This record gives sequence, structure tokens and C-alpha cells, in this order.
Amino acid sequence: MRRLLVAGNWKMNASADMAEQLLAGLRAALPAECDVAVFPPFPYLSAARQQLSGTEVVVGAQNVASEESGAFTGEVSAAMLADIGCGMALVGHSERRQLYGETDYQVLAKVRQLLSHGLTAVVCVGETLEQRKAVKEESVVAEQLSLLISELSDADWERIIVAYEPVWAIGTGETASPEQAQAMHAFIRSELAKVSRDTAEKTRILYGGSVKAANAAELFSQPDIDGGLVGGASLDATEFAGICRA
Ligand code: PGA
Repeated sequence: MRRLLVAGNWKMNASADMAEQLLAGLRAALPAECDVAVFPPFPYLSAARQQLSGTEVVVGAQNVASEESGAFTGEVSAAMLADIGCGMALVGHSERRQLYGETDYQVLAKVRQLLSHGLTAVVCVGETLEQRKAVKEESVVAEQLSLLISELSDADWERIIVAYEPVWAIGTGETASPEQAQAMHAFIRSELAKVSRDTAEKTRILYGGSVKAANAAELFSQPDIDGGLVGGASLDATEFAGICRA
């Protein structure tokens, strides 16, 4: 059985005060029925780890360097994230792909870095509105996953979570219907079967794109949706707790 995971991606939001309040709210309303992870901006990661100590909440980063160490000004390595107790990092978020030109090769290199330092990679994939209109959503997502599928082993996949985030649903208030999301999640699972049946069955596939407390239950009840990657709604402790309860 795959345990549901609700993950909050704060993006470039919050302040030290706001982070503290948000995490206090989260601590007070921690659900027993699902796994929870939060992805604050880099400067707040250590404080988040401290504030959440004694809970099962995983603290993760929103990005990681594709290199091990060295002259890469401005980058943060997987070793550093491990050092401060991060358990996960997002990789290949559509904002990174679109705004910073992150490629599938970089995504693979970042995943490798995370795996070699014992972190879990949450790999984001998803099509744009144009690609969906052209009925290319499956080929786009298959392409985004193909290097990971061909290069990584079953053992590697034990530390990878996929997040399907249709770009047209991110921050737009528009959500994929439960049927649209389920169809894509089932497709992703069939692609993962190219690694092995075991990997296809065990890998958690999160849905992301305007998830809120009001639509989470219906999304999470789909057989291949194993939780959510939540942006905007993760900045509101009550709303985020509502999603966890769903
Ligand atoms: P959203 O963002 O929930 O605000 O749509 C999701 C994400 O980008 O991870």
C-alpha cells in the first residue's frame, strides 16, 4: 500500500515570522492519516527542521545543485541539504523548467545527487495548456520521465516520488478534473512499469495544481493519486491542514 503524502511547496514566499507561524499551525493540526512534507525557501530550512523536531514531518528544499561541490556560485548541494536534515527536494518543477531552463538531463543529475546523499527526490512533470490542446500531454510527460526510467534502477526509484502538475493548473485556480488527473497518473504508472512492476506499484505519484481543501478528497480518492503537491494553499495553515485531513 502506498501511503498518501501531502507536500507544501511554499515557493518564494513567506518570511522568518510567517514560516514560524505556519509551522506552528501545522504542528498543532498534524494528521495521523498521511505523510506530510514542507518545502520552505532555503533560508528557512534549518529553522523549520528545528521547529518540527519530534514530528514526522519531512522538511525539503525546492531545488538542489546538479553538481557535487565546488565553484558553482549561488547553488546549494545535496550534501548541504543532508547536512541540515532535509529529507527531500523538489526537482524539475515547471517553474524551474520554464523560467530557468532546467532540462531533463539536469533533472537526472539532480536526482542522482539527492539519491547519493540519501534524500528523496520529488520529480515534477506536466504539460502546458498548448500541449494538452494538441493532445500531447502523454508524450510530453513520457519524455520528461524517460531518462529517469532508462537510467535509474529499482533501488533508486525507492527514493523517487513523481508529482504530476499540469502547468495550466498551477496557481491558476483551475484544477485537472479527478478523471483527467487519474488518467495521467495511470499513464505515468504504466511508464514506470518499464523500470519494473514493483517500481510501478510502489512509486507515489502526487497531483499538483490548485489543490485545496475543497477539492482534495475527490482527487486523493482516485486509485493512482497518492497525495498532493500544494502551492498556494500550503501558505495557509488551516487550508493545508484541511488538505491533509482529506
Ligand atoms: P498551486 O501550485 O497549488 O499554487 O497551483 C502547485 C505547485 O506549483 O507545486
